Amino acid sequence: MNRLNRLFRIFAVFVLFTGCNNAFAESDVTVGQLTCEYLANPMGIDVTNPRLSWILESSQRGQRQTAYQVLVASSEDNLKHNKSDLWDSGKVTSEQSIHIVYAGKPLKSRQRCWWKVSVWDKDGSQTAFSEPGFWEMGLLEKSDWRAKWLSISGESNSQEAQPSPFFRREFAAANGIKKARAYISGLGYYELYLNGQRVGDHVLDPAFTRYDKRVLYAMYDVTNRLKEGKNAVGIVLGNGWYFRHNVEEWDFHKSPWRARPTFICQIEIEFVDGSTDIIASDAAWKVSTGPIIFDSIRNGEIYDARLEMPGWNAADYNDSGWKEAQVVDGPKGKLCAQMLPPIKVVKEIAPVNLTEPKPGVFVFDMGQNFAGWAQLKVSGPAGAKVTLKYGDVIDANGTIDQKRYSQLTRQGFFQTDMYTLKGEGTEIWEPRFTYYGFQYVEVTGFPGKPVLDNLRGKVIHTSFESAGRFECSNGLLNKIQQATLWSYISNFQGYPTDCPHREKNGWTGDAQLACEMGLYNFDSASAYTKWMNDFKDEQRENGMLPGIVPTGGWGYDITWMKGPQWRSGFGPAWDSAYVLIPWYMYQYCGDTRILAEHYNGMKRYVDFLTDKSPDGICWLGLGDWCPATEQTDKKVTSTGFYYGDAIIVSKVARLLGKDEEARKYADLAEKIKQAFNSQFFDANTSRYAQGTQTANSCALYYGLVDTGSRQKVLENLIANIERHNGHLDAGILGVKYLLNSLTEAGRADVVYRMASQTTYPSWGHWISRGATTLWESWDGRDSRNHIMFGPISEWFYKALAGISAVPEYPGFKQIFIHPQPVGDLVWAKAEHKSPYGLVKSGWRKEAGKLILEVVIPPNTTGIVYVPTGNADTVTEGGVAADKAEGVKPLRTEPGTAVFNVGSGKYKFESSI
Ligand code: BGC
Repeated sequence: MNRLNRLFRIFAVFVLFTGCNNAFAESDVTVGQLTCEYLANPMGIDVTNPRLSWILESSQRGQRQTAYQVLVASSEDNLKHNKSDLWDSGKVTSEQSIHIVYAGKPLKSRQRCWWKVSVWDKDGSQTAFSEPGFWEMGLLEKSDWRAKWLSISGESNSQEAQPSPFFRREFAAANGIKKARAYISGLGYYELYLNGQRVGDHVLDPAFTRYDKRVLYAMYDVTNRLKEGKNAVGIVLGNGWYFRHNVEEWDFHKSPWRARPTFICQIEIEFVDGSTDIIASDAAWKVSTGPIIFDSIRNGEIYDARLEMPGWNAADYNDSGWKEAQVVDGPKGKLCAQMLPPIKVVKEIAPVNLTEPKPGVFVFDMGQNFAGWAQLKVSGPAGAKVTLKYGDVIDANGTIDQKRYSQLTRQGFFQTDMYTLKGEGTEIWEPRFTYYGFQYVEVTGFPGKPVLDNLRGKVIHTSFESAGRFECSNGLLNKIQQATLWSYISNFQGYPTDCPHREKNGWTGDAQLACEMGLYNFDSASAYTKWMNDFKDEQRENGMLPGIVPTGGWGYDITWMKGPQWRSGFGPAWDSAYVLIPWYMYQYCGDTRILAEHYNGMKRYVDFLTDKSPDGICWLGLGDWCPATEQTDKKVTSTGFYYGDAIIVSKVARLLGKDEEARKYADLAEKIKQAFNSQFFDANTSRYAQGTQTANSCALYYGLVDTGSRQKVLENLIANIERHNGHLDAGILGVKYLLNSLTEAGRADVVYRMASQTTYPSWGHWISRGATTLWESWDGRDSRNHIMFGPISEWFYKALAGISAVPEYPGFKQIFIHPQPVGDLVWAKAEHKSPYGLVKSGWRKEAGKLILEVVIPPNTTGIVYVPTGNADTVTEGGVAADKAEGVKPLRTEPGTAVFNVGSGKYKFESSI
């Protein structure tokens, strides 16, 4: 041991014995995983009072934060020396470790803020400061934008598709570049190049918004991409949603904001001598067309490699044949920072099979249904044309069946790429401005016979990280879980969609149903934050919402719904996404800002429903969509949503301190409840409406059933399921109700039986038919990649592993661990990365015992329900549970002993 080490040890022992409360006394807690507005070290944010969060780690039980101190500095060096020139929160006595609102000096455009945090633990000992994190402000003022919107032509409203424009500009940079940033937005989509190289790995950027209200821009650190002397910047644009040139069902081709592709770009350079330079898009840029001769988000891409322009995005390219770029007005929307993870290629998939159903027609099977595209590797003569047709259904001839999806895209081909070879050795190509939903790729025109190696699948989605894992002893359920994850990511491309092929629409009902499972499985909070802003942009003055968000104007006033009272969109099961998703974000992420931000919109929506439902019964909407056999009166589910929304708005009002409004919406909810029961409840039969699974479970799910009738309604529901031989018989709304209401009522066993079926209608039936994603309808006739039956995955977490947030302690500040060892399950386990850290719950049955292992992250507490036949037999860590450290018995319930625990790892054992 060297001297220094020895001295340190002596010091450490001294600190331990004196119980010294000084900085960095013996807390075993470490602080890390810093995030700002849900993002790790975000570049380019425009929230001027961003929220900071961190996670504690500790091996001790019961560890928690009692106070914190945040330091924010304008440079890394200042922060290192604790010179917090932007903000020093001081020691704040608080357990709050998520969403701490920055309250320092006003933040300016371009400012890089470095921050770190230290906390005081349960014993009042201060931890070491975390590693530094940062966030960087984007451009906050309109006047920060010196750049102009550019396009290839001033004539913006042509219906005709045009080849993609390529823009370039050369510029000189002086010596001593200290830092450089590029701010860019390009609609529909852009790719940015500097000195011949692509900048960043975003694809299909920026995320889709309502472009006349809001346009997102990205920011890149390009310091290392510039050089002293000559530089060149190049930009390619795709049409995306911005310039829908083909006629289609949802009228995007008629959007009021529709225009020819355009971009705005500003490269800002700071030099070591303090001087700055800005290279902004202006009339000095040049433009040409190139090899992308057609691109369309719904149709596909046509590329002629013979038209490539090698070196177009590097210096010294001869652009004498290029035209001057045109300055245009650009979209009307406000430029806002893109504060969600970009869409990226997140994975590459190799095909598993290749067939030749007809001479010269080759079908690659990727072995997985997903969203993205294929990369083609080919060699052959110049001018040879290879066509790639994408789909997820194979017809009787072994070729791709696109018919079920293509009809609503009324013009042109569908999900198809065409690549013309330049004839120079091995050519590798993939499309850039479109994506597809597919498992199979049909290749024609290929020179010679392809092999598996000629194609790769590129999987794309909004690149949020995984936030959960579930597995159990039932292999079928594990397959269902995987299929659900694939459908969720396939259907999140900057906004949640219904399916990646037929529509690519932000159908709101599908997304609200999938939100809870999404938040269990993925770190998707920032993406939902963005999507709620889209709702704000789309909501009409009278509260009305469209069925799809974003929209080009379609989906509000749907006239095909018979008579004037139906002319109100898709109804509350869809529109309530605007009430439910902020509420889920509060429950799962502890987010109160999103509630405050959207409270008025949520309220306006409920008022809209009230206006349409004077007697408390809501007539609007589609009702339980894609049911198996039983149809449920749509008034039942729509009124259920109306009631649920009124309750949420009342609770949000209470949280925001608006007590009078809280009472008003609670009274409204009561009125709806009475109307619902008098209209739908039959006291003689204890059934709602026609007694379908959906109707009865809807009433139970929303807590609309009077206490005295609850048991009978439940029995009726279960009897119906029995009549269906243990199968569900419901659509997308009924499924969510069934899973949750039966579990709530202690009958997770009934759900387990439904979930493990392999015959129609069930998830297992899809799997038995080869599904690797969830389908749109139980019979498989429609889309093969829809997420709206996804709540099954939420149930795996909530019920089988038993992890859920306690409503009164949002964000998993307190955690329920309430596992359900049902049916023939032998084990199940899940973990979820909550805002406070990793929560785990895993149980297994072993020799007449049940072993339950639990992890409750520091700064949270848990309520653990240990399944047991005899509460007295429960042990934790080998000792009687009531004697174990950090474990307090709360009560026993039939079959369960309930304990309160502090944070830490626990191993309970009980006889069953
Ligand atoms: C979509 C659904 C959507 C529904 C509502 C369908 O075409 O694919 O997922 O919710 O329309 O009408």
